[in-house]
Amino acid sequence: MQQPDGLPAEIDLSRPSAARVYDYFLGGAHNFDIDRQLAEQIATMTPNLAATMRAGREFLRRAVRALLDAGTDQFLDIGSGIPTVGNVHEVAQAANPKARVIYVDIDPVAVAHSRELLAGNEATGVIHADLRDPERILAEARKLGLLDFDRPLGILLAGVVHFVPDTDRPGDVLATLRAAAAPGSHLVISHSTFEDQPQEMLDAQRLSARTATEITLRSRAEITGYFGDWTILEPGVVHMELWRPDSPSEVTAEGQRFGAFGGVARNDRPAG
Ligand SMILES: C[S@@+](CC[C@H](N)C(=O)[O-])C[C@H]1O[C@@H](n2cnc3c(N)ncnc32)[C@H](O)[C@@H]1O
Repeated sequence: MQQPDGLPAEIDLSRPSAARVYDYFLGGAHNFDIDRQLAEQIATMTPNLAATMRAGREFLRRAVRALLDAGTDQFLDIGSGIPTVGNVHEVAQAANPKARVIYVDIDPVAVAHSRELLAGNEATGVIHADLRDPERILAEARKLGLLDFDRPLGILLAGVVHFVPDTDRPGDVLATLRAAAAPGSHLVISHSTFEDQPQEMLDAQRLSARTATEITLRSRAEITGYFGDWTILEPGVVHMELWRPDSPSEVTAEGQRFGAFGGVARNDRPAG
């Protein structure tokens, strides 16, 4: 496909990108025809997927607030996506102006827009990297010098681990990240599932095969396993809408049908 003027060659317009489709569903402007076509096809198959993406964003916001309440002031947000309203640094710095956030994404559009948005915000950084290479993410994060790995950290993996196929050993990726985090750190995960889902949702998720990053749907037990031996906080690994809703009225009848589980765990390993 011809690359329109002004677009860096690394932006692949021959197929939709998960980050850009997600941006479209959230009402963002950083997407192209090829992304919108896939998004529209998904929307006609199931209205639930758009709601899932919004519910995912809300889950992330509530989880970040919970971490801030627990005293966390530094975050590593992997698979952070294209910046939209209510980004992690906005939620975090509204509560604690000194909070530091490093964003990591594999998508060049997400990285370019994050850099643009964060120019001048000294407490934030952006890394272009692949979750499947956690050692590199940790090394780059250390190089930026923004996070103190000897203190509690919030590791955010919202809507991203399902892009790591079993052959790329997501369990090992998670173990590497957990091992780098000091006692008192938290891990936030939301992950697509096949459990309790109608067929149309499963069919719509399957369309991700058209993007560079296909989704692997997993069971609640598999997703729970990614927290390792960390203590899973109440209410557990649950449908995202059910994770500490701001008010009971926010929980809709479709809450079980949003196709993804969310959970938060804390590293209670003794120091030393
Ligand atoms: C569904 S979006 C989630 C965005 C954000 N975390 C949120 O919850 O609102 C998933 C993001 O993960 C990114 N992604 C997919 N595979 C990745 C990988 N292997 N490494 C890093 N990022 C990845 C995509 O580019 C996309 O921006």
